[in-house]
Amino acid sequence: MRRSINDSSLIISMNPKSPISEVYRLLRTKIQFSSKDQELKTLMVTSTQSGEGKTTTISNLAVTYAQEGKKVLLIDADMRKPSLHRVFSQPNHQGLSTLLTGHTSVQDSIQETINGHLSLLPSGPVPANSAELMDSVVMRELLEQFKQQYDVILIDTPSVLSTSDSVIVSALCDGVVLVVAAGKVRKDYLKKAKEQLDHVNARVLGIVMNKVAK
Ligand SMILES: Nc1ncnc2c1ncn2[C@@H]1O[C@H](COP(=O)(O)OP(=O)(O)OP(=O)(O)O)[C@@H](O)[C@H]1O
Ligand SMILES: [Mg+2]
Repeated sequence: MRRSINDSSLIISMNPKSPISEVYRLLRTKIQFSSKDQELKTLMVTSTQSGEGKTTTISNLAVTYAQEGKKVLLIDADMRKPSLHRVFSQPNHQGLSTLLTGHTSVQDSIQETINGHLSLLPSGPVPANSAELMDSVVMRELLEQFKQQYDVILIDTPSVLSTSDSVIVSALCDGVVLVVAAGKVRKDYLKKAKEQLDHVNARVLGIVMNKVAK
């Protein structure tokens, strides 16, 4: 099913020529060059606290890759506050949670967006045991399967300090992008988050300083 994109978070789709769209393209380039030796196929975004701009960053990044002609799968693994379905005006009756619990097939769970290159796997209904679902063989096998089917897999997750979900997912990804809201960042939180990610050998590619005042 194809629906229109009507969320203002998607700056790129609305105005690909804007300076902000250029920033997301630069971010994509920086990610590509951050790892010359290892392929970066599965990337996730997280932050220390909520509301720092994870969903905005990963959505725009996904559109940037898709506009480049890459086959992109965007996954909403933020079971605390799922929002990618809203960004892309898609339903959320089925998605990652129903897929991981075996209630839906891959085909039924993934939706095509307006951009033919960009597929969305929304969160699905919020489960009680999200950490258990993420930390499962099924999740690992799914990501392996997606790696064969897509050029890049981008994953939205909750903030590191709110739940263990993002740390669990980080161990399954090739790279992690940390989004930090300028002015809101707390050094001790950042240190704690980095420690938790390091603990599972997650590969933090860099920090996006978001919401910088002009
Ligand atoms: N660079 C920016 N400039 C201005 N507003 C922004 C920017 N990035 C994000 N926002 C706004 O900040 C709010 C939070 O952004 P977003 O939903 O992307 O954060 P989040 O980290 O995913 O939040 P949550 O932890 O609740 O999932 C949204 O209203 C979004 O439109
Ligand atoms: Mg979010």
